[in-house]
Amino acid sequence: LQGSMELVQDICRAPLEYVKGVPLIKYFAEALGPLQNFEAWPDDLLISTYPKSGTTWVSEILDMIYQGGDLEKCRRAPIFIRVPFLEFKAPGIPSGMESLKDTSAPRLLKTHLPLALIPQSLLDQKVKVIYVARNAKDVAVSYYHFYQMAKVHPDPGTWDDFLEKFMAGEVSYGPWYQHVQEWWKLSQTHPVLYLFYEDMKEDPKREIRKILTFLGRSLPEETIDHIAQSTSFKEMKKNPMTNYSTVPTEVMDHNISAFMRKGITGDWKRTFTVAQNERFDTHYAEKMAGSELNFRLQL
Ligand code: A3P
Repeated sequence: LQGSMELVQDICRAPLEYVKGVPLIKYFAEALGPLQNFEAWPDDLLISTYPKSGTTWVSEILDMIYQGGDLEKCRRAPIFIRVPFLEFKAPGIPSGMESLKDTSAPRLLKTHLPLALIPQSLLDQKVKVIYVARNAKDVAVSYYHFYQMAKVHPDPGTWDDFLEKFMAGEVSYGPWYQHVQEWWKLSQTHPVLYLFYEDMKEDPKREIRKILTFLGRSLPEETIDHIAQSTSFKEMKKNPMTNYSTVPTEVMDHNISAFMRKGITGDWKRTFTVAQNERFDTHYAEKMAGSELNFRLQL
């Protein structure tokens, strides 16, 4: 890492770069070129989410399923190595494409990219997708704290500034509204299991069973129990292989805000002012008008 200190400074709080109209973290934008040559394998499984929607949680659940519920095997490496993050690139940490080289089939892959930017091969190979969506207000709050601690993002400014940017889609990966809707639409023509963070909180074992059915796998009831327990917020917060504590402080500063921050639903109620909430609701209704998703992502 020592040698890459200059690079850290270079990336720190750098402005977002637009690729095909999508704002992205500077280094991630650079990773997109080589990523277009990515070759998907038919037995890959893609975890797709808008940031802060429960990606790490569902990734750990999936690796535990793939390891037959063996937690020790899941401690072999940090989650971002076990589940390569396709467009990831940052100084001092293996990139998504580098992590891929050491990953054997069947592979778990992660992306936050909107559909327009994902490698075509994933669609051509009909790679199974697990998508997780989360209440937009909770995502905005979680993203604000993440912007503060993960310095690859621009400075978020005040909460009020950040919320405006979130609503305008001027945050890394662009508008939440479009992301959740386009991946929902994809499920009409592509194998996508569309999950909700709130459902996972309500009954994790039910959601793990849904995943197993989607994968055409089965596990004994006690293994499902064990997976649900080992992937609880409390367990994942103290597990260095899931809590991102192995990432250099220069890139992620957990003293500002822990990656495993609160792990609850409805935290937005403690953050939004009445005025912000009214403004958000009006804007949300416009953006989500006519969407079949409204009944699930209602505020
Ligand atoms: P909060 O900031 O609201 O606490 P992602 O992995 O997509 O970046 O999402 C991170 C969010 O998921 C954070 O939300 C984090 O605390 C929460 N999270 C991570 N693991 C979780 C778990 N096992 N159970 C519930 N929430 C979890």
